[in-house]
Amino acid sequence: MRKNFVILFALFCLTFRAFCADAEYKLVRVETLTNAVRVRLPLTDVTGKVRVKEKTVDGFGIPVAPSKVSLGRKHYLEWQIGYDTPDAKDITDVPEIKFTRKGETKYGHELSKIIFEAVRLGLISTNDLLHEIEALKKIRPAEFEESQPVQVEVSTNSSADGFQSVVQRLPQFTKTTPHGSVQIQLKQKQRAVGYQAMVYVCIPMTDVLLPDGTPRPPAKAKSKETVLYEFNSANAGFLLDIVQAFGKASQQHNEDIQKILAKILESAR
Ligand code: ADE
Repeated sequence: MRKNFVILFALFCLTFRAFCADAEYKLVRVETLTNAVRVRLPLTDVTGKVRVKEKTVDGFGIPVAPSKVSLGRKHYLEWQIGYDTPDAKDITDVPEIKFTRKGETKYGHELSKIIFEAVRLGLISTNDLLHEIEALKKIRPAEFEESQPVQVEVSTNSSADGFQSVVQRLPQFTKTTPHGSVQIQLKQKQRAVGYQAMVYVCIPMTDVLLPDGTPRPPAKAKSKETVLYEFNSANAGFLLDIVQAFGKASQQHNEDIQKILAKILESAR
């Protein structure tokens, strides 16, 4: 009886450890170096916020199985970057950046932390932030991606088998830069009616690094492999492009990002 209990307890501990290791692997980690902000991204979390895609001409890309294909020039990471969280609990959060949305308290997270650290390192100046806040204020409501119409074309005659075709045209904005691109896509809301604007940062596979900081050569992903991406003085402008994407995504994103930049500015003074 006692032996069974010990075995059960040991199994529970092992399962719990494996669960924690998996949760840690999926986290996007942000680390500050002397002259760069380094982000650690999971490569094989195919259902998570970071996915490997093959480039396509329409810009949407095709998801690939990272452990089955040699990841190289044709591939990129599509990262649904976050900027806030309801409770600051891990090192990717910035408790100094605290703001409210519709009465709910939010803390800075991922993009907020990266910009906060980039300002601390001098990769982005407080002047850049002031300039961005002014630009965000000038975006007119009609320019928001969420205000763009979704066109639905219904064919007038159904085919012989009785099926009628409907074509949906969803707007997508892409800003291509020398460091990667940033996209705003309209997606169907998951728990409500209508569409929401989603922001994705697209990083070429050729620009990611191995855990030791050296360039990652083309190869299939190893189990639970993580890669690094660095924001430094050469590509800090890419961060401002991401800010602009959120500013154009919707009124709510625009307001949130303005609040976040104002907080970063406050703590930099
Ligand atoms: N809110 C926080 N991060 C987001 C993202 N990447 N796209 C849309 N909304 C978000």
